Amino acid sequence: MRMKAVVFDGPGRDLVLTELEIDEPRATEVRVRITAAGICHSDYRVLAGEWGAATPLVLGHEGAGIVEAVGDAVQGLEVGDTVALSWTPNCGRCRYCVSGRPQLCQSAVAHAYRNVLPDGTTRLSRAGEPVYSYLSVGSFAEYAVVPESGAVKIDAGIDPAIAAVVGCAVTTGVGAAVNTRPVSVGENVLVIGAGGVGLSVIMGAGLQSPGRLIAVDVVESKLQLAKEFGATDTIDATACDVVEAVRELTGGRGVDVAFEASGRAVGVEQAYASLAAGGTAVVVGQVATGERISIDPMAMSGRELTLTGSNYGSARPSVDFARILGLYQRGLLPLDRLVTDRVRPEQLNEAFRAMGRGATEGRWVVRFP
Ligand SMILES: NC(=O)c1ccc[n+]([C@@H]2O[C@H](COP(=O)([O-])OP(=O)(O)OC[C@H]3O[C@@H](n4cnc5c(N)ncnc54)[C@H](O)[C@@H]3O)[C@@H](O)[C@H]2O)c1
Ligand SMILES: [Zn+2]
Ligand SMILES: [Zn+2]
Repeated sequence: MRMKAVVFDGPGRDLVLTELEIDEPRATEVRVRITAAGICHSDYRVLAGEWGAATPLVLGHEGAGIVEAVGDAVQGLEVGDTVALSWTPNCGRCRYCVSGRPQLCQSAVAHAYRNVLPDGTTRLSRAGEPVYSYLSVGSFAEYAVVPESGAVKIDAGIDPAIAAVVGCAVTTGVGAAVNTRPVSVGENVLVIGAGGVGLSVIMGAGLQSPGRLIAVDVVESKLQLAKEFGATDTIDATACDVVEAVRELTGGRGVDVAFEASGRAVGVEQAYASLAAGGTAVVVGQVATGERISIDPMAMSGRELTLTGSNYGSARPSVDFARILGLYQRGLLPLDRLVTDRVRPEQLNEAFRAMGRGATEGRWVVRFP
């Protein structure tokens, strides 16, 4: 079948809106008509050449859609189902899946992270040449063929833009604060970076009634948005020393939990240096390949500090997507406010340039007409 898709041919080159061939889903796969796709900074990392990836590639790993075809062995989905896409299509059998940590699934690491389906191949091609789909999703297209476990059934009535952003930013951010290192009532919390993921961390932390909830960014309008999402205090990182400012806001003690969500090594160091004794820094943002951090191991032992990472909000998409959407439907997560702009596929180059300049507020969503 022919479809329109936005193709990445390598760093430094504009994305191209073109026609691709998409094969029928194999036994355990489904074809989804994409109704909305979100723009994540991880797509930008690939586009900017900060992370390597084989090309040609259809980017986009936040997506929602309608199931249009199912493989012979698919058991949990039917044609017509509304789904949000997951970028850790988990195998259900590896040690991580069976121990309840599908976000670390070995099959997803071996296949989705190489932008192929679990059998090592891709369903997309351009003039006979294989085209990869980013994280086994490839949502900047009219259709995607994904593994059954990469499509999670959700309520049909959910706005596609909301469902799409649950596919990465929201699950990553909310999950970091409720799954990876659950915030407790009254704890002081720091969130560095108030983009799509950082605002979601703020929402997740806010659910648990923290003490101070401090947001850091370099763009004033994003700090304002952070307040709307529940931040009690904001720090403009261009105007002061972040760690000193955190100490001032917390009576010199520091925060109990610090989330890094700007994707910078320095941000991780700031999160760690802002901790109170016994505190935990959670690395959510993902840095350009090769960046390194420096921390003081003496402080780590003497003050019992923890430094940990969070992949996909330590989520189990088949459970957590519905949980998150349920909270949204009850008015507890302002996801409508997170989606701030909607772009057409031909505007994606401009949208990524805006992201590079720091000019994308909240989450921008693409819709194919
Ligand atoms: N761990 C995961 O599973 C996971 C999943 C999705 C995204 N990510 C990563 O999370 C990070 C954020 O993604 P996003 O989509 O929210 O990006 P985004 O571009 O929407 O947000 C990044 C934010 O950081 C801010 N920022 C830039 N410089 C800063 C500084 N010096 N101090 C404080 N803030 C600064 C920007 O203004 C922006 O608001 C990226 O690194 C992305 O790759 C990780
Ligand atoms: Zn993402
Ligand atoms: Zn697995």
